[in-house]
Amino acid sequence: MSPAHSGSEPTTFASGLLAGKTAFVAGGTSGINLAIAHVLAEAGARVAVFSRNAERVAQAATALRAHGRQVEGYVGDVREYAAIERALAAARAALGTLDIVVSGAAGNFICPASQLSSNGFKAVMDIDLLGTFHVYRAAYEHLTRPGASLITIGAPQSTEAYFGQAHVSAAKAGVDMLTRSLAVEWGREGIRVNGIVPGPIEGTEGVTRLAPTPEIRATWEQANPMGRMGTGREVGNVALFLCSPAASYVNGTIVYCDGGQVLGGARDYRAAWEAQQAAGSR
Ligand SMILES: NC(=O)c1ccc[n+]([C@@H]2O[C@H](COP(=O)([O-])OP(=O)(O)OC[C@H]3O[C@@H](n4cnc5c(N)ncnc54)[C@H](OP(=O)(O)O)[C@@H]3O)[C@@H](O)[C@H]2O)c1
Repeated sequence: MSPAHSGSEPTTFASGLLAGKTAFVAGGTSGINLAIAHVLAEAGARVAVFSRNAERVAQAATALRAHGRQVEGYVGDVREYAAIERALAAARAALGTLDIVVSGAAGNFICPASQLSSNGFKAVMDIDLLGTFHVYRAAYEHLTRPGASLITIGAPQSTEAYFGQAHVSAAKAGVDMLTRSLAVEWGREGIRVNGIVPGPIEGTEGVTRLAPTPEIRATWEQANPMGRMGTGREVGNVALFLCSPAASYVNGTIVYCDGGQVLGGARDYRAAWEAQQAAGSR
């Protein structure tokens, strides 16, 4: 089981909430997306996962079958339209029309824009932004309508600019607007399109790459209003809410699951305040 899916705590949702439903999770074979797939399978959904690495796909499918639902794994790259088209058609044939589609495949690396190659910028745009378009465009004809729920996994970089993340910010800002645009276009058909922006999630590839040392991770925790990173299961629970009947009128919304990090308030003055208090008590 993924370290991002710290799944020991009981669900807060009704048992069998997604019984009879089908979910397709693009990039669902590790980290946050796999944690989401676990939460959906635990809630009763049949699940398909899709990513490039065949071994990873097989391992994820095996782990997900522990929930006792039908699970299918497909190998492919979201950058190749034909590959995602084939996988979605196969998932529909095996599992039925798609009630839930999660688009979460992404690439990331730190590189200042002054040193970023055209290919490096394009690779992230192609996986994150074009890939999300491919997933939703190819899924469109296979969706349950009315009733389908599409969930895009965004990132804080879509609204906050960071050193070395120009490529990710450009791609994820586009992903947010693609989410809103499809919500506007497809809402009449009973297809809801929403996004989740996770904060830093412990045990994930993203955190390992962007916060490679315990010292950096400690500063991240300190900078978060809740003083900690999140878990994959916490993001999965937001996904479960968004695709449940409880969110039947929620469309085109980007939900932050980040402990309040987007507000920025904790990182600015808490340390100064604590230093003042310490000085005053001496
Ligand atoms: N980690 C965090 O704290 C954090 C914070 C905010 C947002 N996010 C977002 O959350 C999502 C997951 O992040 P993570 O850190 O959990 O990453 P991760 O473990 O690296 O997961 C990425 C997944 O996408 C797949 N993938 C990557 N490129 C692909 C491609 N071209 N085609 C198909 N599948 C592809 C990977 O499998 P293969 O290698 O087998 O293809 C893997 O299953 C991303 O959208 C990320 O931007 C993460």
